[in-house]
Parts: sequence; structure tokens; C-alpha cells
Amino acid sequence: MEWHRRHVLGLSDFHPEEMEFVIDTARSMEEVLTRDIKKVPALRGKTVVNLFFEASTRTRTSFEIAGKRLSADVVNFSSATSSVTKGETLLDTARNIEAMKPNILVVRHSASGAALFLSRHVSCSIINAGDGQNEHPSQGLLDLYTILKVKGKIAGLKIAIVGDILHSRVVRSDLHSLGRMGAKLWLCGPATLVPREMERTGAVVTSDIREAVRGADVVIMLRIQLERQKTAYFPSLREYSRRFGLNRDVFSLAKDDAVIMHPGPINRGVELSDELADCERSLVLLQVESGVAVRMALLYLLAGGSHVAH
Ligand code: CP
Repeated sequence: MEWHRRHVLGLSDFHPEEMEFVIDTARSMEEVLTRDIKKVPALRGKTVVNLFFEASTRTRTSFEIAGKRLSADVVNFSSATSSVTKGETLLDTARNIEAMKPNILVVRHSASGAALFLSRHVSCSIINAGDGQNEHPSQGLLDLYTILKVKGKIAGLKIAIVGDILHSRVVRSDLHSLGRMGAKLWLCGPATLVPREMERTGAVVTSDIREAVRGADVVIMLRIQLERQKTAYFPSLREYSRRFGLNRDVFSLAKDDAVIMHPGPINRGVELSDELADCERSLVLLQVESGVAVRMALLYLLAGGSHVAH
């Protein structure tokens, strides 16, 4: 297929064939990452700016490594050390960065719709690296890729997603990536953290983690996003962990070959016990590894590549 997108703002309008195309491209990038010299000249002369208005470890670092593996010039912008602290707006910031002629802006912002907004006001490509509670498309694609690596398929798998559904942009992108590929999705969390609209997504919604995990092929645990919680959604972290945390006892209800995922960062002892976070069936670090290849694929495709780079 041909790649026609100028931006990657979310997965809500991605067709399965497009997601497969990104994954196929990521597989080729993964081969580059096995070489002694993990670098190809595909994006030589292109500039990628990581424009992050929120904290990040995995996404920002892996977009930086992805760009460098493709020989792009990569510039990291952090709002905390920028003129945003003097009151400069998102749009003014982006327009000033645009004046320096980057090819791709990778944007993370606390406001849902920030990436879409910028795509309407700047001429370079935009990749949404997480906008508020809306979407995190590269995470949705890397989760898809990680499950494909381990399970070989998505269709028919029971995938339970447990935790703070309300504030999670990951779940919204995973619903598009995993759901559109035919997974049977279950969403689980306290009733206060599962918005009613989730019942219209085709996923099964429950507040019983045992029901969600029973017979699951994949269990995706979500971080409790205390920084986005303006009110108390549950009595205490201890109570939350007791009812919605994944421990050995609850995980024993899943299939014998079930795997555990988490987008990170993990609140250890809250949504995931130490034992499970680090066990052999945890794919947490494989997700991070997959993220570099998926982000290389996105940068490569947006920069005009249509075949695999060597
Ligand atoms: N998964 C994820 O978005 O992690 P970071 O916030 O560290 O980028």
C-alpha cells in the first residue's frame, strides 16, 4: 500500500491495512536494530523536534533514538526549561520552532486535541506523543506489535485492560489498534474510573478484575494517573490495589501462557506487584524495545519513505 498521511494524530481513523503497513515497516526497522552499526541514512538531512509539554521517559527517549537510528537531526524541547515558563503559548512556541524548518514535530501535551490543533497551524508533520486523555497512537501501535511478536495474532485473543480507564490515552489508542484487529477486549476498573461511553466501544465492561482476567491471553495494566485526578475516585491506594491490582492469585485465572503488559511508568505495589512486574511473563521491557522500531517506522513513513530503508 501507499502511505498518504502527513500527520499521526490518533488511531481512530486508521484502517487495519495501515496499521499492518506500519508494523511491517517496524519489522524492517527491527532488523536494523540487530546490526552492529544500528544506523541507516534514511532521514539524513531531516529534522525531528520532540516538543514535550509533559514529562516522559519512554516516548521521548525512544523517538529520539528512533530519529538518530535513521540519521535525522533530533532536537529535544522540554517546556520546563523553555520560554513556556515565561508565559509563551503552545501556538507561539510551535510557530517559533516551525520557523527553524523542522520536518516533523513530535508533540506531547496535557490538553486533549493539542496535536490536532497544531496540525492546523503549522506546515510540518505532527506526531501525537500523547494528548491529555485523548490518544497515544504510537503506544497503541507498539502494544499491537508487541502482542503480535509473542502471540502471532490479535484476532480472537481475550485482552483485559485494567485500571484508570477514564484518564488513559493509552486505552483509547489500544481500543482502536487491538479492537480493530479483532481482539475481544475487556475493560475493568472502579465504576468511577470507567466512563459510560466505553460501553459503546464493543468492549465488555466490568468492575470485577477476576472476571476480566479469567481466561485472558493478555492483561494490560494501566497506571493510576493521580496527576489528572481532581477528585477522589476511590477511597485509598491500598483499597484500589486490593480490588484492582494484579497479583499472582488473580493472574492465575488467566490462560497458562497469558502475558502481562503495562505502558509505564509502573506504580509498583499499586497496579502491579513487584513479583509480576519482573516475572518472565511480563512484556513491559519488550514493549519499550518494540517502541523504538514502531517510532522509527512512523518517522520514516511521515518523512516520505515508502519502502524499507537499508
Ligand atoms: N508509555 C509512556 O508514554 O511512557 P512515558 O510517559 O515515559 O513516555
